[in-house]
Amino acid sequence: MRIPVNTKSHFYEVYIGSGILRSAFESLKEKIQKADTLVVFTDENVWRAQQKYFTENFPYPFEVFVMPGGEACKSFKNFEDAHTFLIEKQCSRKSFLFAFGGGAVGDLTGFVAATFMRGIPYIQIPTTILAHDSAVGGKTAINHPLGKNLVGAFYQPEAVVYDMNLLDSLPTKEIRSGMAEVIKHAMISDEKWLKELMLTPSITNIGKEKLANHLKSGIEVKAKIVSEDETEHSVRKFLNFGHTYGHAIEAAAGYGGLAHGEAVMIGMIYALLLSERYGNISREFTADFAKFAYRNDYPLKKVDEYSFDDLYEYLMKDKKIEYGKLKFVLLQEIGKPYVREIGESECRKVDRELRGLLEEVCK
Ligand SMILES: NC(=O)c1ccc[n+]([C@@H]2O[C@H](COP(=O)([O-])OP(=O)(O)OC[C@H]3O[C@@H](n4cnc5c(N)ncnc54)[C@H](O)[C@@H]3O)[C@@H](O)[C@H]2O)c1
Ligand SMILES: [Zn+2]
Repeated sequence: MRIPVNTKSHFYEVYIGSGILRSAFESLKEKIQKADTLVVFTDENVWRAQQKYFTENFPYPFEVFVMPGGEACKSFKNFEDAHTFLIEKQCSRKSFLFAFGGGAVGDLTGFVAATFMRGIPYIQIPTTILAHDSAVGGKTAINHPLGKNLVGAFYQPEAVVYDMNLLDSLPTKEIRSGMAEVIKHAMISDEKWLKELMLTPSITNIGKEKLANHLKSGIEVKAKIVSEDETEHSVRKFLNFGHTYGHAIEAAAGYGGLAHGEAVMIGMIYALLLSERYGNISREFTADFAKFAYRNDYPLKKVDEYSFDDLYEYLMKDKKIEYGKLKFVLLQEIGKPYVREIGESECRKVDRELRGLLEEVCK
């Protein structure tokens, strides 16, 4: 199956299915065969788990650059090493990159593609559930020691090839993390879909066919939003639902302490509590959602390790701050997001409410 992404700057497709790697790349032949060198960027964990499958199914000769696992590949040092590798391999403007990995590999590769000789084409080959989100939409970045994703570019890929067989080796924690972004896509688009997700007995053990449907729906939501607003001036902000408070906890925990999606799950509960104050979200629903998260082993108690003041410091560093004001994505109702400015004292009150609610739910 193919899902089109039609942004102002670029048209491309997301190929999704099980066992599609070879056939998708064969249909992309025209784009790829013009290149002088094909370079696959991956990380050590992905390569260990999936090298065999990849080399058996990728139908062209390639060079491979294996990077440190996960978030570590988004450092300035690795960004430089990646460029060095390309220069040493005598890559040119006619070379082509492939991001074979999760969101971290995808973000790094996209940014290298955006900057090497002022831009060369690249294709995303996501290997995590989370990357159904990050591989689509062209946000690329590396981390600065003072903050995550602070250096980057909007740079769209030529295609996204999402072979779900690659998910087989994913650790449970990463499945849980990725499913939070699927849940986010449901929250901002479709109540029926969200209810279905909340009724699944185990979010980390959904079954291939159902998972495929959820991922397709998630990609469709993302593709539609990105097609309307490529560079986040309007509706693309909605994709940050749960991310303002979530990023603060993720940062406080130190990157790696909490998986991105685990932090976003807590951020979504916080955003629901805020939403109750202005729209049609009931406390009953927020509590049900928190119970659902707890049942599925999202580490909600992590919040207890930080004071509100700790978190507020990180909140004020959020990229979404405009003119010094904190903005949150809230829900009028499930599927109807909007953006609202929230002051410090209200943030603090709702933080207290969150801790109270989690105390009850996590008994
Ligand atoms: N660009 C965007 O729009 C966007 C959106 C959301 C998140 N992100 C970024 O994505 C990153 C998180 O992505 P992620 O959750 O995919 O994390 P990740 O890329 O760090 O992968 C998680 C871990 O799983 C390993 N792994 C990946 N695929 C595997 C597989 N198939 N088998 C075994 N191990 C595997 C990785 O080596 C890593 O240790 C963050 O850096 C975040 O900033 C970007
Ligand atoms: Zn996210």
